[in-house]
Amino acid sequence: MIYLKRPQEIVRMREGGRVLAAVMEDVRKEIRAGVTAQQLDTLARRGIRARRALPAQLGYRSYPASICVSPNEIVVHGIPDDRRLEDGDVVSIDFAIIYEGYYVDMARTYAVGAVSHEAQHLIEATRASFFRGFDAARAGNRVGDISHAIEQYLRSAGLFAVRDFVGHGIGRSFHEEPDVPNVGEAGHGAPLRVGLTLAIEPMVTVREPQVEILADGWTASTGDGNLAAHYENTVAITEEGPISLTEGAEA
Ligand code: MF3
Ligand code: CO
Repeated sequence: MIYLKRPQEIVRMREGGRVLAAVMEDVRKEIRAGVTAQQLDTLARRGIRARRALPAQLGYRSYPASICVSPNEIVVHGIPDDRRLEDGDVVSIDFAIIYEGYYVDMARTYAVGAVSHEAQHLIEATRASFFRGFDAARAGNRVGDISHAIEQYLRSAGLFAVRDFVGHGIGRSFHEEPDVPNVGEAGHGAPLRVGLTLAIEPMVTVREPQVEILADGWTASTGDGNLAAHYENTVAITEEGPISLTEGAEA
């Protein structure tokens, strides 16, 4: 079942997107060598609650925290712990909130201090690949057009889309249909319509990814020091084209 949202619902989700982006910005400001993922989680949980929203991930399938913090070779779903971030790390922050009954979801990868050229390229190209997908998120296109645009861009940048995880519909539930893979064929998949709201979220590595789930049941690691990045926004498809409900909404 694909749920199309009425304009009034998209307005709600946009408000939620502003809240989510504001909390993400609070987290970003605290990212430096020496901070722990648990400190970032606490900060985010308080920021979410202070803005009259709920952390969507806390307790979701028994996930034990409000945000995912995934350093270096961790692709997604890193559980916040007391390890300190170090200069030269890249760290992905991913979380969703529920605001007035609607879910919104967002991820960013940040550099801790000075990072390698390879890491910088990974972060920038992962963001750029999101926008290729975003530009393809138009009524009349299909999901595969988004997937193909992301895949092609990453290939041209010499990087690899992770296939083990996908973007998704979002809104009344955390994960709705359709899946939004980061690789695919143009012209294939579910038709995109006005009112569809999608979490578009390229997950990217610098070398061919071999993803394994660690013993905690969550942490997705490339296991071999293969750096990973993640960039996600919640996107609404409107008559006027795609709108990002979370990108640049920090103010
Ligand atoms: N924000 C992630 C997503 O895109 C959520 C991961 S699952 C969780 O679906 F348990 F960590 F919440
Ligand atoms: Co998501």
